[in-house]
Amino acid sequence: MPRAALYDRTGGPEVLYVGEVDDAQPGSGQLAVRVHAAGLNPFDGKLRSGFIPSEAPFPRRTGGDFAGTVEAVGEGAVFWDGTPIAVGDEVMGRAGGAVAERVIASAREVARRPDAVPVEVAGALWVAGLTAVSCLVTVPVGAGDTLLVGGAAGGVGLVVSQLARDAGARVIGTASPRNHDLLRSLGIEPTAYGEGLAERVATLASGEKPTGRVAAPASAQGPTERVAAPASAQGSTERVAAPASAQGSTERVAAPASAQGRVTAVVDCHGRDALDAGIALGVPVDRMAAIAAYAAGAELGVQNAEREARTPENLAGLADRIAAGTLVLPVAASFPLDEVAAAFTALESSHAPGKVVILP
Ligand SMILES: NC(=O)c1ccc[n+]([C@@H]2O[C@H](COP(=O)([O-])OP(=O)(O)OC[C@H]3O[C@@H](n4cnc5c(N)ncnc54)[C@H](OP(=O)(O)O)[C@@H]3O)[C@@H](O)[C@H]2O)c1
Repeated sequence: MPRAALYDRTGGPEVLYVGEVDDAQPGSGQLAVRVHAAGLNPFDGKLRSGFIPSEAPFPRRTGGDFAGTVEAVGEGAVFWDGTPIAVGDEVMGRAGGAVAERVIASAREVARRPDAVPVEVAGALWVAGLTAVSCLVTVPVGAGDTLLVGGAAGGVGLVVSQLARDAGARVIGTASPRNHDLLRSLGIEPTAYGEGLAERVATLASGEKPTGRVAAPASAQGPTERVAAPASAQGSTERVAAPASAQGSTERVAAPASAQGRVTAVVDCHGRDALDAGIALGVPVDRMAAIAAYAAGAELGVQNAEREARTPENLAGLADRIAAGTLVLPVAASFPLDEVAAAFTALESSHAPGKVVILP
């Protein structure tokens, strides 16, 4: 019987344990996957803690993101592009309860994992990557835009920032000081979050846009960080073309010249301070998106990131960018399945940049 992370009551990471679960077979349009990596997300912790209410019966499983090998294929299960799914295929995607040795997924929520994308990165890509794409569908940016990203060193923030950069926007991102070198190495201008944010951002935006990217710091190159930026992504002015599958609706024509030197768009990936800064800096609410500060977003009239962009086709596009070295999703730490509680503790208490991943 496969093992999975389970919990019998809501609470902190300590309620998690590992137990055996049914060896379920895939139904129509589904596949069974031997999980090799399962990325953790704040949403998983919010469900487990009861912060987000759920009627699901106990014991409950946890997780969503995964990458692994197809073990069985249900009737009619094909990839998003219509090609068949076969036993032995390497896939990545999303499925409820993915922090497990085996999971049943819908074919509509998986894509092939390219060989060049490490399994732990692929296994952490769906939620962070597709939420980032959704943010930029909600608030498209392009040349001439200056985007403020709140929480730029988190999973979503890192992807939003890099996609916006590659769409031609200037990106200012809030992060803990320990993550500033990483952001700089990715072409993102860092600033501390907290009091005085609007003033700091206004000063940065009105100054010269820095040219060039510095070498990635050691913190982005640990043993689990395998994605190096290629020479083509390191020039001072060079823009990296997006793969066709991720282009189009996330990019927009150049912002007007009058926008130079000021912030034109905001994406909140942590809390309301970036939204408040946006208001203070005169950014229209329809050029702001919130994925974390729901209450503040509603109060200020800021839209949530829409969900239509969460497709396996867009996931494949993100994987192509990672394979090409133009998108980096650092893995901050990885844990075996038996240490799932420690992994969630790390996710919920550390400020390490990037993803926490279970390797079952
Ligand atoms: N609505 C949706 O569909 C959706 C989807 C995905 C995620 N989310 C939500 O979006 C948020 C981010 O998700 P994630 O996966 O990117 O999380 P994550 O990887 O855990 O990153 C969270 C980031 O928040 C930053 N942070 C901590 N305290 C902060 C503060 N006071 N001000 C600004 N930033 C601060 C941290 O930055 P430092 O490490 O630099 O301190 C960290 O990088 C979570 O609340 C998550 O639940 C919503």
